[in-house]
Amino acid sequence: MGMVAEPKVGLPATATARAHPNLALVKYWGRRDPALNLPANGSISLNLSGAVTTTTVAFDRTQVADKVAINGKLADDVAQRRVTAHLDQVRALAHFTYRATVVSDNSFPTSAGVASSSSAFAALTRAAVAAAGLELSLRELSILARKGSGSAARSIPDGFVEWLPGRDDESSYAFSLAPCDHWDLHVVTVAWPLGPKAVSSLAGHDAASTSPFYEARLASLPRTLDRVREAITQRDLGALGMVVEREAMSLHAVAMTSYLADRPWMSGVTYFAPETTRMIHTVQEWREGGLEVYFTLDAGPSIHLLCAACDVAQVMRAVQESVDPGAASILVSRAGRGAWLVNGTGGAGGPAGEQSLDVAVG
Ligand code: DP6
Repeated sequence: MGMVAEPKVGLPATATARAHPNLALVKYWGRRDPALNLPANGSISLNLSGAVTTTTVAFDRTQVADKVAINGKLADDVAQRRVTAHLDQVRALAHFTYRATVVSDNSFPTSAGVASSSSAFAALTRAAVAAAGLELSLRELSILARKGSGSAARSIPDGFVEWLPGRDDESSYAFSLAPCDHWDLHVVTVAWPLGPKAVSSLAGHDAASTSPFYEARLASLPRTLDRVREAITQRDLGALGMVVEREAMSLHAVAMTSYLADRPWMSGVTYFAPETTRMIHTVQEWREGGLEVYFTLDAGPSIHLLCAACDVAQVMRAVQESVDPGAASILVSRAGRGAWLVNGTGGAGGPAGEQSLDVAVG
């Protein structure tokens, strides 16, 4: 990757970074290379300004293992291993083996229906790289984030973002198509706390190619990407909306007809809940009544509503009338910036944040 790999004087060090989760308008679904997280297709997203993950990484030469706390609790084994594997990549680049303490907190509930792995691995990448004293370009940061979670590649650059599928490790990265203030498109996310999904997006990605509709979806995507890119450039919600809705439905058509080898009792993966289906019909009714609002869906029951800034208040009123406010969480966003450092001391040493790390990790 041509990265600068000399540890700076003063290591180990601490750095804190923040990142927004992102919402795909054209979705990543299926992996060409599971080891490198190379996607089967290109995708386009915007960072969700209404939600943020804050992560502090502190490398310490006296520590014998990585310690990871997420939302105030020690991480479970799966999350711990995933974070350690990601830190191993950073340690290899920095040519050291120091273990780290990682403290990560989301401003939004896990049940908020946004892909927290995108903001988690973008913030972790930004913080760990700074704490290790490495200086990477945005492209190199995006490549590194991608290896932690595919969608995290898109939370590195600003605003509206495209992730190139690439041919290999170095050519699969995300870049900014347009800055945050290019377009005040709004996203109202409606999520129901229905507990963890039965089939992870990882399992969904890896089963996707078993669907008879997978190749058809991939064949349609170059045109979809062109149309979405063009609609963003033109700030044309009418041109964007239906393309984005059909694109989300095509992901679900593939998921619902995917064969899960380890779950022979399932005919496919249905990520919708009854609430999701009801909301899809409701959005179509609103649109028929003249309210310009479109939906998109990820691998879960939540629904994201796209609308113009001038319609946000009306969309919020309509949502509050049609969902039980006690049963759903609602988040409003517009395009947000890419992952950023908060108080990086990378390379300079320094104890910033150590006290809170001790408290949080226990
Ligand atoms: C449906 O990148 O979140 O949200 O590698 O398991 O973290 P992991 O997968 P992830 O998959 C995202 C799937 C999606 C579509 C998208 O965001 O493009």
